[in-house]
Amino acid sequence: TLTADVSRSTTGVNKTQFGDIVEDINHSVEGGLDANLVRNSTMKENGVSSWSAVTSGGGAGTIALDTTRPLNSANGNALKLSITANARGQRVGVANSGFYGIGLAPSTRYTTTFFARSDGPFRGGLTVDLESDTGTVYAKAPVHSVNSTWTKYSLTMTTAANTPVSTANRFVISADGVGAGSSLYFDVVTCQPPTYHDTGLRKDLMDKLAATRPGFFRIPGGNYLEGNTLSTRFDWKTTIGPIENRPGHQNDAWGYWSTDQAGIKSYLDMAEQTGSQPLLAVFAGYTLDHTVVPRDQLAPYVQDALDEIQYAIGSPHTTWGAKRAADGHPAPYDVRYVEIGNEDWFDGTGSYNSYRFPMFHDAIKAAYPQLQLVASASVSSRSVDVIDDHYYSGDTSYFTNAAHTYDGTSRNGPKHLVGEYATTNGSNDNPTGTLAGAISEAAFMTGMVRNADVVVGASYAPALADVNNFQWPTNEIAFDAAMSFGSPSYWVQHIFGNNTGDYVVSSSLTGADAAVNEVVTRTASGTVYVTVANPTNSPVTSQIRLNGTTSVRPNGTATVLTGDPNARNSITAPNTIAPTTAAFTASSSFAYTFPANSVVALKVNTS
Ligand code: AHR
Repeated sequence: TLTADVSRSTTGVNKTQFGDIVEDINHSVEGGLDANLVRNSTMKENGVSSWSAVTSGGGAGTIALDTTRPLNSANGNALKLSITANARGQRVGVANSGFYGIGLAPSTRYTTTFFARSDGPFRGGLTVDLESDTGTVYAKAPVHSVNSTWTKYSLTMTTAANTPVSTANRFVISADGVGAGSSLYFDVVTCQPPTYHDTGLRKDLMDKLAATRPGFFRIPGGNYLEGNTLSTRFDWKTTIGPIENRPGHQNDAWGYWSTDQAGIKSYLDMAEQTGSQPLLAVFAGYTLDHTVVPRDQLAPYVQDALDEIQYAIGSPHTTWGAKRAADGHPAPYDVRYVEIGNEDWFDGTGSYNSYRFPMFHDAIKAAYPQLQLVASASVSSRSVDVIDDHYYSGDTSYFTNAAHTYDGTSRNGPKHLVGEYATTNGSNDNPTGTLAGAISEAAFMTGMVRNADVVVGASYAPALADVNNFQWPTNEIAFDAAMSFGSPSYWVQHIFGNNTGDYVVSSSLTGADAAVNEVVTRTASGTVYVTVANPTNSPVTSQIRLNGTTSVRPNGTATVLTGDPNARNSITAPNTIAPTTAAFTASSSFAYTFPANSVVALKVNTS
């Protein structure tokens, strides 16, 4: 029997109850959220990797890295095309193979920008096109002249209606009739389809994230914030302003180059455009190679964090607020939480407790007393608003067994953010997990919602992974250059995000296996959600009693996620595990059968 007293709420559900981490791991951002299809757009990733020369009809030329005449001080590497034969009809150009292919779709408008210059006897013109790897052109646009001064070119082209949705494509800039002996130089090359609310972010990925109705984005999360060294940390100041002025950095936490073309402002926009809050993570003086910034050298990093917060929420009349306004966003963003570092327990020297957290804490609280500060490791030297707990386990029972973790948490200490958690049972060829892992996470989530008074929010981690190159085994959403899919864990996030009310209602479940967990919530207007995770191999028929209401309307809706517990989704079978919805008849006491291996959210209207 599942009994809920819908007239008695135990606590409010937080706006930030369910969120996402944004960490550039698995090409989540570079080659993922950043909608630029062109890889190595600034020629800083292993010279001119991802680029090749294309020739046909007798055209000839070679490519090389050129550093002789930099575009600017941030971007000094150029792609040089030396043309040795290029009479009319003789094609010679440069091709980019993208992030494991270039994803194209039919009848879609692509916007390209790049910087170019020439030397030698440049005549003729250039053509930019999107074509298959075998040379079938789907979209093209002309560039009529190039001269010896670095110039920015912007153009658009639309793919033909018969363009197949595929990744087996390349981006090409080619010359026709230029003649032999001239050279062309390119830098900061971009090509993108329409993006999510014009944020520059890949639409299908953002649509999927937005559909879970996240309350916050932890930006940027994880090891990516720290980097292996001080010079490869996430240095937010180098990620703002025109993209050609951003130097980029080696993402040595995860092993690839980041152009930072999707920088801190993109992250802030991501949160705003999805109606969620940015949970801003600031670098706290510790890097993954175990460098700890000494106390007497930490002040500039504290100032950097203050500047970052000012960029996010300062008035446009402040130094960094003005830069935000110049970057196109005069209004402050809605930041309420700032996290100091990431997993700073790895430091091992005690510096986080002894001086790093205190220095950041005191400076931020003095300037922004309204902010809630999140500690990334336990701290006794200051009173802590929120502590960030991380949980990963390959065991599909782990999170079911952890469903009551926060039941006994002190209500007098810090609140908790579960900034990272996941059942890590992805496979070698698929960076997403099984239904069993997802049901286990759902059980844990019932406990986090029941304890919403101490758990301010939770973000499954990581959010995104490229199926062709992933560093972390199990992720919420996976993608290639053309397609994406949600894992069973994604659908659990989706179910909770779309089926949780404003208040937690007191409930109990008796007579069922202890592994079956429930949470009941209601909205202010009387919609009740009964959410149950059943990880057992048996269906559970339960009598559901909704006490404390005189009026239960019969038109209930059940959202059900169930299937083979070992099943997972993939690019070729994206919907093996996906929720279904069905009507059922509700009353103040009704029977419902929760299928074996399921997560179910029942929506009942009361008044
Ligand atoms: O999410 C993957 C990694 O797990 C994060 O970078 C780190 O914070 C955690 O250890």
